[in-house]
Amino acid sequence: MAFTFKDFPAARDDLRSDVLSGLAACPKSIPPKYFYDEAGCRLFEAICAQPEYTLTRTEGALLASSLPDIAAAIGPVDCIVEPGAGECAKVRLLLEALHPAHLVVLDIAGAPLAAAAEGLSRAHPELAVTALGMDFIHDLEAADPYLPAGRRLVYYPGSSIGNFPPGAAVDLLARFRQLAGPAGQLLIGFDLKKDPLRLHRAYNDAAGITAAFNLNLLDRLNRDLGANFNPTCFRHYAFYNPTAGRIEMHLVSLAEQDVTVCGQQFHFALGETLHTENSYKFRRDEFSAIANAAGWQLAAAWEQDGFAIQLHRQSTTGDHPPEPC
Ligand code: AVJ
Repeated sequence: MAFTFKDFPAARDDLRSDVLSGLAACPKSIPPKYFYDEAGCRLFEAICAQPEYTLTRTEGALLASSLPDIAAAIGPVDCIVEPGAGECAKVRLLLEALHPAHLVVLDIAGAPLAAAAEGLSRAHPELAVTALGMDFIHDLEAADPYLPAGRRLVYYPGSSIGNFPPGAAVDLLARFRQLAGPAGQLLIGFDLKKDPLRLHRAYNDAAGITAAFNLNLLDRLNRDLGANFNPTCFRHYAFYNPTAGRIEMHLVSLAEQDVTVCGQQFHFALGETLHTENSYKFRRDEFSAIANAAGWQLAAAWEQDGFAIQLHRQSTTGDHPPEPC
């Protein structure tokens, strides 16, 4: 059993400065990655179990039912790299189908990642598991020394790519080419454009779990930054914006109020919004265009009930941007 864990606290994002600058901006916003404290992770798991939110279940079912086909399209792989692996739950099926010698998982939450990766390593004694506690959005170079030579597959499931506006999505996918290496491939899952009412319901579940997830951000800021948000004075408000092709999640102020965060005061007018998440939805051709702009070429695609999994190889046409350095 080979297990390595390396934490990069310096490569973490900065909750305090991101929140302070987001609250000072107009309109106010906070990056969605800050949803995922312990309570936020539990609430996200609960969202995935809601009848209206089919994204995660559909991706799992699609991966399971297409696994032989997906594995055949990928071919032999020496290493799977998963940015944002979290609980390392999704990669298990792929490990069993592809039998790589190495698994490298990255996540901003170092401690839970290490625990999950060590569990995986115990379940797969023949697999060399490396867990890197880092924010892959900022700091992929630090991962370089931990990436074994050979054929690598970058795995980015869960439609996490939907949190990035198209330009940032291109940048991120271009950085994934670094993780994948010259002969590397990218297997990515994303949510498709569909009936806007169905999308609306997925982010406005009847049990109110998505509302609790959104409002938990305020509890988190109270806890971790000593802020004094009153969550009952904000309304969870999520809708599909068809012009932008995205779900927008907001926390709308129900009153004129002042909030103190890290000793700084911020004013909310009645009806003013704190924008907490964008979740982009794609058509497959739109997504392929984003991947192309990042230097990836579509190799194969699978689709089920409004969700897609696509396999990409590095473009050979040379008309893509150079790898970022
Ligand atoms: C984890 C980003 C894919 O956008 O659907 C679920 C997060 N937010 N409900 C998504 C989320 C509200 C989710 N992603």
